[in-house]
Amino acid sequence: MRAFVVLSVVLASVSSVFAQTASAAAYATTEAPIAKAGVLANIGPSGSKSQGAKAGIVIASPSTSNPDYLYTWTRDSSLVFKALIDQYTSGIDTTLRGAIDNFFNAEKILQQVSNPSGTVSTGGLGEPKFNIDETAFTGAWGRPQRDGPALRATALITYANYLYSTGNTTFVSNTLWPVIKLDLDYAANNWNQTTFDLWEEVSSSSFFTTAVQHRSLREGATLATKLGVTSSASTYTSAASSLLCFLQSYWNPAGGYITANTGGGRSGKDANTVLTSIHTFDPAAGCDAVTFQPCSDKALSNLKVYVDSFRSIYGINSGIASNAAVATGRYPEDTYYNGNPWYLTTLAVAEQLYDALIVWNARGSLNVTSTSLAFFQQFSSSVTTGTYPSTSTTFTTLTSAVKTFADGFVAVVAKYTPSSGALSEQFDKSSGSQLSAADLTWSYAAALTAFEARNGTTFASWGAAGLTTSCSSSGSGSGGGSGSSGSVPVNFQETATTVYGENIFIVGSISPLGNWDPNSAIALSAANYPNWQVSISLPASTTFQYKYIRKYNGAVTWESDPNRSFTTPSSGSYNENDTWR
Ligand SMILES: *[C@@H]1O[C@H](CO)[C@@H](O)[C@H](O)[C@H]1NC(C)=O
Ligand SMILES: *[C@@H]1O[C@H](CO)[C@@H](O)[C@H](O)[C@H]1NC(C)=O
Ligand SMILES: *[C@@H]1O[C@H](CO)[C@@H](O)[C@H](O)[C@H]1NC(C)=O
Ligand SMILES: *[C@@H]1O[C@H](CO)[C@@H](O)[C@H](O)[C@H]1NC(C)=O
Ligand SMILES: *[C@@H]1O[C@H](CO)[C@@H](O)[C@H](O)[C@H]1NC(C)=O
Ligand SMILES: *[C@@H]1O[C@H](CO)[C@@H](O)[C@H](O)[C@H]1NC(C)=O
Repeated sequence: MRAFVVLSVVLASVSSVFAQTASAAAYATTEAPIAKAGVLANIGPSGSKSQGAKAGIVIASPSTSNPDYLYTWTRDSSLVFKALIDQYTSGIDTTLRGAIDNFFNAEKILQQVSNPSGTVSTGGLGEPKFNIDETAFTGAWGRPQRDGPALRATALITYANYLYSTGNTTFVSNTLWPVIKLDLDYAANNWNQTTFDLWEEVSSSSFFTTAVQHRSLREGATLATKLGVTSSASTYTSAASSLLCFLQSYWNPAGGYITANTGGGRSGKDANTVLTSIHTFDPAAGCDAVTFQPCSDKALSNLKVYVDSFRSIYGINSGIASNAAVATGRYPEDTYYNGNPWYLTTLAVAEQLYDALIVWNARGSLNVTSTSLAFFQQFSSSVTTGTYPSTSTTFTTLTSAVKTFADGFVAVVAKYTPSSGALSEQFDKSSGSQLSAADLTWSYAAALTAFEARNGTTFASWGAAGLTTSCSSSGSGSGGGSGSSGSVPVNFQETATTVYGENIFIVGSISPLGNWDPNSAIALSAANYPNWQVSISLPASTTFQYKYIRKYNGAVTWESDPNRSFTTPSSGSYNENDTWR
């Protein structure tokens, strides 16, 4: 009897493995063309579901009520076009050039549209969404969202690098670069300011935003160097170093996961972190934890904690083994539409795992550390920490289990996809039926990139290989820890009344304060108006001069003389309180 029981368990698990893999493979085959068509239908001017959208404008969804998503978000559009630009530049789809040029031209226009976040030079690049006729959206919203410019820069840099490699260097320097530079300057100047997160709910610092800003500035510095713009290259590299230090502070060692936002009052378990891992994947960076690569021990531990947080809260996940794939959502505390699984988050989990498999197979080894042990023990309770070469049975056991696990997430998505193949934003946590916006462009793009990772397709490196930090480890992320050795955070507060559309900046005699150049001045946040505030990482024990300036419709007004003077402390942090004069 015992033998029979064991055998039937093995057979059941083999058949479920087979079912998941077969289901994922079949789904990738049938859904890929539907997802591609779904993306293209939502892009103006000729997309079949995007009437009224100007050329190159990506609508989030054709849905006009419950919810109204007929807008263009910089984040969604840039992620969608990154996927299309990857397809074009890698030769998967050579027909996309016109659509990409339209996208570039549309974004170039949107950059210049004055909006409630400001003008192009006063913070307007942080505006999250626009009307599809390229006018400003002026209703109340969670703004600014500082991931948008970085994601747009990343998409356009991928295109620029390709055009440069084909010899079209004049177009890159004269046409693409000025647009890319605006976004990179915005990221470099504003990375240390609060932002709404990618779900547009929490205003604090956000892991996804920090990570995509870091990525954009690294590849931006490389492009700037190639184009001979060395001053920009050094500005971007310096900001990227600070960002990489700051990125480390989101790791929660006790919980074994990445805390998604510094504010928000939630657990911090959030698809934000899994999306970061796939959107900053660099196959050349191996399993580096410093950039949270998909196969890094920290990102794998995080994935398990994130996935497990949905096992007991969604009815459709009940009865599923604790080491098998489930439907996942944005974050477990979510109440939007009552809190449900999303296609793009469940697909992101699969994609992170496929990315990890790509690297393990390419490197011919897999490492189990104390940080990733719990992740791997899901698949083999006896596994211990160590390095497993591809010739070992442990490598084979673990990689095939991870592949099955990954396919399981695609199989979950397949199970809750209607026969038409249409993907909305969410599916009901109890019934599995579709909810919220129909034909969500990002859902389709998420399917495309997950399928590409599943079949082993990779795209250009962004320069993550070999990055290290030299941050002081004190503070471990609790506010006030110094950013990098030799620097201290100084919180500048300036009390100033302003008119609508006018903003306060700080500029001074050292490079983090723009070397007196008003174009490089650092914007202050008006979150506690009329107290404008910004925290800036400055070199320790350094004396410098500075002033606050006002910018209004491009005009700059300086504070009256004399210049203000300040000496940073040797360590710790400092609050400097000033009043406009
Ligand atoms: C460079 O690429 C742009 C964008 O597609 C195109 O308009 C232009 O004709 C190209 N120039 C050359 C010399 O190929
Ligand atoms: C600014 O950077 C410092 C040092 O990395 C960090 O402690 C602080 O939380 C950051 N603030 C924001 C709003 O990003
Ligand atoms: C595993 O660790 C070894 C030794 O640190 C390293 O050389 C190798 O690149 C690692 N493999 C992967 C896939 O990270
Ligand atoms: C990989 O998958 C993508 C998306 O389904 C597809 O476009 C591409 O042709 C596939 N590549 C290979 C080599 O199978
Ligand atoms: C303030 O600093 C600038 C730049 O060094 C200098 O040109 C200016 O004369 C200074 N103002 C006063 C009143 O010293
Ligand atoms: C500046 O203001 C903050 C609170 O707004 C206060 O905690 C801090 O002590 C002040 N710093 C100085 C130097 O007065």
